[in-house]
Amino acid sequence: MQELIDLIRQSGKVLPGNILKVDGFLNHQVSPVLMQHCGQELARRFQDAGVTRVWTVESSGIAPALMTALALGVPMIFARKHKSLTLTDDLYTADVYSYTKKVTNHISIAKRFVQPHDKILLVDDFLANGQAVNGMMEIAAQAGVQVVGAGIVIEKSFQPGGKELRQAGVRVESLAKIKSLAGGKVSFEEGEA
Ligand code: G4P
Repeated sequence: MQELIDLIRQSGKVLPGNILKVDGFLNHQVSPVLMQHCGQELARRFQDAGVTRVWTVESSGIAPALMTALALGVPMIFARKHKSLTLTDDLYTADVYSYTKKVTNHISIAKRFVQPHDKILLVDDFLANGQAVNGMMEIAAQAGVQVVGAGIVIEKSFQPGGKELRQAGVRVESLAKIKSLAGGKVSFEEGEA
């Protein structure tokens, strides 16, 4: 999505450890108009998938997930993150290890917001190692609901998450695909400006 790619070029900063800092429009300050356009584009790509709910993980996934859900006319649920939980009877839970932050988060979704015939679209701000998406897929498997795919704002395609998901048969749609952050320079995949 050209508008997103242009913004990454203009204001993205590459930090040590292959991290792209985009806190001017996605991870801290959030651009509502950009989020709306991302949501509309993800909704367009999944318009025929029969999505009944959009899932994400708090916190940075919420903005694009909400806008996608708005465009699709369905509810959005954000999995909550907790370091540890004791009362889990009414929750579906999964462990998500963050390679970036070196912590394991316990993510959870309340059972009462999951319906047996749900078709879930997973949305997230970044796809890197795929831990967040895999955690949500684990919850969907526990709940016995179908995942129709993953809609991602920025995929770091030099990290294994996207490839592994596609190899496992998951439909992954990413609005910007970053091939490399080497030398502090942002390079996009072919076909992306
Ligand atoms: P994964 O979910 O794809 O496996 O990501 P990974 O473990 O590699 O990264 C963990 C966290 O760091 C995730 O956010 C992910 O979105 C974020 N992240 C990964 N690479 C980048 C990057 O290059 N730039 C930025 N800005 N974030 C990146 P999280 O822990 O769930 O955090 P949040 O949603 O609460 O912000």
